[in-house]
Amino acid sequence: MFKYTPSPTLLEQRTILVTGAGDGIGRAAAKSFAAHGATVILLGRTTQKLETIYDEIEQAGYPKAAIYPLDLEGASPDDYDILANTLEKEFGKLDGLLHNASVLGTLTPMEHYDIKLWYQVMQVNLNAPFLLTKSCLKLLKKAPDSSVIFTSSSVGRKGRAYWGAYAVSKFATEGMMQILADELENTIRINSINPGATRTAMRAMAYPAEDPMILPTPDAIMPLYLYLMGADSHAVHGQALNAQK
Ligand SMILES: NC(=O)c1ccc[n+]([C@@H]2O[C@H](COP(=O)([O-])OP(=O)(O)OC[C@H]3O[C@@H](n4cnc5c(N)ncnc54)[C@H](OP(=O)(O)O)[C@@H]3O)[C@@H](O)[C@H]2O)c1
Repeated sequence: MFKYTPSPTLLEQRTILVTGAGDGIGRAAAKSFAAHGATVILLGRTTQKLETIYDEIEQAGYPKAAIYPLDLEGASPDDYDILANTLEKEFGKLDGLLHNASVLGTLTPMEHYDIKLWYQVMQVNLNAPFLLTKSCLKLLKKAPDSSVIFTSSSVGRKGRAYWGAYAVSKFATEGMMQILADELENTIRINSINPGATRTAMRAMAYPAEDPMILPTPDAIMPLYLYLMGADSHAVHGQALNAQK
């Protein structure tokens, strides 16, 4: 596991947007960022799940969160601009953006990959992070030490049979991270995280026969997420990192 001991006040005064905040790794990240002082904007497609996290953050006494329901599959470029304008009005700046939401699609040979599903996976995993980043850049530039984290995967760093659109979307995500990092040197930190095998619904869908209890929980992989969101990683830029190593 990546080793890092964050200060309890690491993310104070920071506003951080987390996509896919309703479940799995995004849920753990949202709560962990809030626990370290951040105001977290919870973005996801299932409002009820977001409300539960919102309540948990409130009950824990962390800074008040905000909920932004959005289905990344159906969202238009205008929807992202509306989101960015809303955040600008409410918060003035954005200190962190965690691109976490993704869908698995299906595991099957390329030859048999359903074309509609391929487009859906690309829309959620690749086009949505592009559109969201594009709309939020002006807000990220207003913060003194902003950080964008893209979420990758082992199959986004080395191709593997049957992982189809999911793996291709993660390869492209790594490319997007590198291009943005090159363009934005000295303004916004851009990095990617490969969470590694983690106990979530997506992992269970990909590996139905696996005993989930042998896997680390989303909470266990948070040190790297916290490190990249806070000032201690100020010199880390354009890196493809692993939450478990
Ligand atoms: N778990 C692992 O072992 C593992 C390994 C490598 C990489 N990853 C990556 O880590 C990230 C988190 O994965 P996870 O395992 O935590 O997955 P998960 O448990 O399936 O959670 C994914 C989250 O994304 C949200 N989401 C999916 N489609 C969406 C859409 N169209 N619009 C808005 N939100 C949407 C889901 O919302 P709902 O809850 O409403 O469905 C959910 O909150 C992903 O990028 C994944 O590729 C995970």
